[in-house]
Amino acid sequence: MPERGPDFGPTSGAADARAGAAGARAGASPLLTVAGVSKRFRGLLAVADASIDVRAGEIVALIGPNGAGKTTLFNLIAGSLAPDSGSVRFAGREIAGERADRVCAAGIGRTFQLVKPFADMSVIENAMVGGFRGTADRERARDRAARALQALDMWTLRDRPASSLTLPDRKRLEVARALATEPTMLLLDEVMAGLRPTETDLMVAAFRKLNADHGITILLIEHVMRAVMALAQRVYVLHHGQIIAQGTPQQVTRDPRVLESYLGSGGVH
Ligand SMILES: Nc1ncnc2c1ncn2[C@@H]1O[C@H](COP(=O)(O)OP(=O)(O)OP(=O)(O)O)[C@@H](O)[C@H]1O
Ligand SMILES: [Mg+2]
Repeated sequence: MPERGPDFGPTSGAADARAGAAGARAGASPLLTVAGVSKRFRGLLAVADASIDVRAGEIVALIGPNGAGKTTLFNLIAGSLAPDSGSVRFAGREIAGERADRVCAAGIGRTFQLVKPFADMSVIENAMVGGFRGTADRERARDRAARALQALDMWTLRDRPASSLTLPDRKRLEVARALATEPTMLLLDEVMAGLRPTETDLMVAAFRKLNADHGITILLIEHVMRAVMALAQRVYVLHHGQIIAQGTPQQVTRDPRVLESYLGSGGVH
């Protein structure tokens, strides 16, 4: 176990990308710029000419009803899918269509909406899957994983098999795995879904700390408005693949277009 506390500051490799967020606050030039991105699945235009930007040091939320295209937009940023058109720039470099491992190496860590840890592996071994980014050094991967688990208050669970974890703990482990890649920017896909309010508050506190103390920029997809209100400085609203509103959490939750988009889809909760 490392003596010092969690440290997700700049590391070797991808220095440019990492320098972009180091200590920077909102107001600097965008760290991530998604411009006019579209993605079609056969007949369905899942993401339609969407543009968002996130400045270094910001926490930005992406909300929208089920099926709006949120996860698809994450996949387009993180390299799981290539856009049909449009541009994705990260830390001054075009990354649209790049392989997921290269996007990760550039400094973007992402979680998956459906969490599937390796059930037979321990918690720390699962986090080490992220820790091996750009290295084959087991000790280095373990050190990164340990710091990620500590940051998420999971250190005491490190030797448990992942199969024994509750859903909230699986979600935290998914965040730990992404964090162990030592990202400049974290893309979090509904990591607070299914958590109780007290568990949500703990997760919110952990993200605030990662942002404030380690300069990690965060873009999160979230249905839990309690978390969005507590975390996000700005919010984008996606509906049928299009960005229909943006602003502060207070502004977007009062926007009639946003409320309308949620009608019949369970509402904002
Ligand atoms: N690989 C794929 N092939 C075909 N259609 C897809 C694929 N991935 C997503 N879709 C469709 O694209 C649309 C957007 O899906 P997406 O998962 O991005 O929505 P979402 O906003 O993340 O929804 P949720 O809140 O339910 O997670 C949906 O209609 C979905 O069925
Ligand atoms: Mg989704």
